[in-house]
Amino acid sequence: MSTPALIQLANVTKVYGSGATALQALKGVNLSIEAGDFVAIMGPSGSGKSTAMNMLGCLDTPTTGSYLFNGAHVEQLSRDQRALLRRRYLGFVFQGFNLLARTSAQENVELPLLYRGEPARQRHGAAKNALASVGLAGWEDHTPAELSGGQQQRVAIARAIVTEPTVLLADEPTGNLDTQRSHEIMDLLWKLNVDHGITVLMVTHELDMAQYAKRIVRFVDGIVASDTRNPHPAALQPQAATAGSPNTPAAEVA
Ligand SMILES: Nc1ncnc2c1ncn2[C@@H]1O[C@H](COP(=O)(O)OP(=O)(O)OP(=O)(O)O)[C@@H](O)[C@H]1O
Ligand SMILES: [Mg+2]
Repeated sequence: MSTPALIQLANVTKVYGSGATALQALKGVNLSIEAGDFVAIMGPSGSGKSTAMNMLGCLDTPTTGSYLFNGAHVEQLSRDQRALLRRRYLGFVFQGFNLLARTSAQENVELPLLYRGEPARQRHGAAKNALASVGLAGWEDHTPAELSGGQQQRVAIARAIVTEPTVLLADEPTGNLDTQRSHEIMDLLWKLNVDHGITVLMVTHELDMAQYAKRIVRFVDGIVASDTRNPHPAALQPQAATAGSPNTPAAEVA
């Protein structure tokens, strides 16, 4: 018997606005994601990637169609129930980091636990561990302004994983970073997927970054136009072997 998918979108549509200005951002998306997968979502600007991510992240609901998360019909949940589901199972990372300014890395990472009502002692310990796991031990007291872009995104990832989510959703997490920093962030997402078993869903415009994923889903004009397994995720390739592959950033390896 096959186990049901963790995530299942069935004939999902999304219409923004109404009447003459109505815009159909999703036109019948079918997508099934197993626990433990690492999916890169690609496609042209305006093809519905972020709309689909908002849906998957339970930040928005389909206009029609169904979304099953872990067997629960998300489109039938109340706003509060969706918020609980988000808090319990999902972690978010955005292109612009979205950290609180003038607030230390430690406090930024503790925030989701504060919302959960966890006592100070647990919050401190968990945030310290999360920061260490993204390579930022010793940086706890720094504010975002005192950190590089790559470090800020690491803090944002620590904040996303401090609640031990089942799924990490990242919308263009390397969009504001240079190539070197982007690869470091992708290595980190890869480790979270492989070592911690977190299912990762990531939107990216860059093929080099998508190559870290185990599966690449391409959106075009509001539908899934292609959905392919990546037989050789970038993080698995021995450095010496990358020269022969057209899709790996050989220049970054040196
Ligand atoms: N809140 C909104 N209200 C109205 N229209 C929206 C809204 N959000 C997105 N859209 C429209 O829906 C379509 C899909 O947008 P979406 O943001 O999902 O695209 P995307 O694939 O993420 O693009 P990009 O690569 O530029 O981020 C676009 O035509 C966009 O203008
Ligand atoms: Mg987008």
